[in-house]
Amino acid sequence: MADNFTSLQIENRVFKPAKDFSARAHIKSFAQYKKLYNESIKSPDKFWAREAKNELVWFKPWKKVLDWKPPFAKWFVGGQLNVSHNCLDKWLGTATANKAAIIWEGEPAAPGKPGEERTLTYKQLHHEVCLFANVLKKHGIKKGDRILIYLPMVVEAAVAMLACTRIGAVHSVVFGGFSAQSVADRVFDSQAKMIITADGGFRRGAVVPLKKNVDDAFPLNDAHGNPLTKTIEKVIVLRRAGNEVTFQPGRDLWWHEEVATVDAKCPAEKMDSEAPLFILYTSGSTGKPKGILHTTAGYLLGAKMTSKYVFDLRDEDVYWCTADIGWVTGHSYVVYGPLANGATSLMYEGAPNFPEPDRFWRIIAKYGVTILYTAPTAIRAFMKWGDQWPKKHDLSSLRLLGTVGEPINPEAWMWYHTVIGKKRCPIVDTWWQTETGGIMITPLPGATPTKPGTATLPFFGIVPEVVDDQGQAVPRNSGGKLVIRKPWPSMLRGLWGDEKRYKEVYWSEVPGSYFTGDGCRQDKDGYFWIVGRIDDVLNVAGHRIGTAEVESALVSNSKVAEAAVVGRPDALKGQALVAFVTLKTGITPNQAIRDELRNHVAKEIGPVAKPDDIRFAEALPKTRSGKIMRRLLKQVASGTEIKGDTTTLEDLNVLTKIGSADD
Ligand code: WT7
Repeated sequence: MADNFTSLQIENRVFKPAKDFSARAHIKSFAQYKKLYNESIKSPDKFWAREAKNELVWFKPWKKVLDWKPPFAKWFVGGQLNVSHNCLDKWLGTATANKAAIIWEGEPAAPGKPGEERTLTYKQLHHEVCLFANVLKKHGIKKGDRILIYLPMVVEAAVAMLACTRIGAVHSVVFGGFSAQSVADRVFDSQAKMIITADGGFRRGAVVPLKKNVDDAFPLNDAHGNPLTKTIEKVIVLRRAGNEVTFQPGRDLWWHEEVATVDAKCPAEKMDSEAPLFILYTSGSTGKPKGILHTTAGYLLGAKMTSKYVFDLRDEDVYWCTADIGWVTGHSYVVYGPLANGATSLMYEGAPNFPEPDRFWRIIAKYGVTILYTAPTAIRAFMKWGDQWPKKHDLSSLRLLGTVGEPINPEAWMWYHTVIGKKRCPIVDTWWQTETGGIMITPLPGATPTKPGTATLPFFGIVPEVVDDQGQAVPRNSGGKLVIRKPWPSMLRGLWGDEKRYKEVYWSEVPGSYFTGDGCRQDKDGYFWIVGRIDDVLNVAGHRIGTAEVESALVSNSKVAEAAVVGRPDALKGQALVAFVTLKTGITPNQAIRDELRNHVAKEIGPVAKPDDIRFAEALPKTRSGKIMRRLLKQVASGTEIKGDTTTLEDLNVLTKIGSADD
């Protein structure tokens, strides 16, 4: 810790924007923010019409700003535009054409060795996207077709996404850390026609066998016994890691061979404002991941405006968002938001601590990064690794810091502020979700006074409220559920193919309002303090994991009778996954089974979902009606004393029997 403050003392500190920052910022004062915010709430149609006109290039103007038939919203009805046109063509013929659109840094092989590097100007990126879009067309991809993208953090991931948007195909990016089963589940749900993948990706010196995972997905069946071959016609494979892969003739094609067969003339399709843009799967409190659907105009406007105002983007910035494109942060703040603003977006392939824990600081010094956007879990890891790593590098280019993904503890905020930002850089703690498409609650640098640990106040047009179980606003400083009262342009339009679940999950908890799943409190200044998920979704190192998913992965192992998964506070990851497992009769718990189960979950979902701890029990504590008592398990998992009413517990004894495998 740089300063000796307790959490509470830090929380009560207010950081006013520095005058020199405000003077150059897009929004120059708190008063200006409030004025614009009030306008956006009082006359939303007027506000959004003006912004959409100024920020986006339209092929055809819209007829109506918002058509709201709760819970279904249509924005900029009747308008036509294209996302790739707004991110690329728009800049051709301007000074931005020859500016770096993407600076890519590969994972280095060993300490002291430089990573590979690649820079694409807007003109070059446009060229690559047009070529690849023509490859998609050549293989029969049409407007509305779904394409799965399962790639490492390489330039081609952005190229593939933009190529889809250019011809109106709907992409669904699957994080490279997910398993063959996860790939299969997403193909079954989206009915994708094509998979774009790579031979492998580098991660901490090892090769992640992406193509092999795709091969392993082909024999898997959906609930009706259909294999992937039912919909997948082609698999395009990028040569990246150079590892051996097997090819199925006719189905599998090399990226580099395909782009050599097409020309680079590919006009952007005219897409309706509400044309599906992408599906991104994310965990919910029940069942398999949900396919969050985003559409064209509203999403792009949200990504563009939030990038511009929250990161205060300027022409000369080198902006680095460290998220993987497999998550929504990578969609909105590595690719679409920055490119729509003509910014330079840095992309890094590897891990923050490989080959050494100064990887990020080295990259910042090398490229003169001005804006860094990362996650609290990474910040806490850096704190643990020690100040000597950032201190080895010149970080003076930085002017703005951002965080996202989970609540940031005040200590981590202060460390980020002092050790990385040298007390010069404003911090934007940005709250949002896969569903919201873009940042929702955030300070605007140069305008909003910040306090460590709060995402502060809503972005333009966003109406959040903290409510009780009846949906009534709670007084300041009391806890409640965070809801959003009004529709906003980049909101999800639904869950792919599941209208019923969309209504249930988001719009029935507090009728008429969007339910975020988060707990929250507003302080005396109206600042929003996010407490974390209040549903059965965990946030492990900034990754959203549904407990139900991990439970069903566990019970799919033949040794497991029953499983319950809960979160436990973790100093580094925010939350850790603890699984309580009962084994089938006759099977004795031991360390080997514990390892087997952890690997089983990695195989079913992906390494991100591996339980940190597996505790074996003879039975799980249940209420008389048979519901697992998660509250009790949470207390057991975190080692806190068991509190509250346990009289409805079916068998109190089971609690005492829950222990580690080896006892
Ligand atoms: C959940 C959404 C969208 C960014 C990446 C995560 C938590 C996100 C914050 C923040 C406190 C945060 C919430 C939210 N969260 N940002 N600044 N402060 N909590 O997207 O996987 O859809 O997860 O992440 O719990 O509901 P996601």
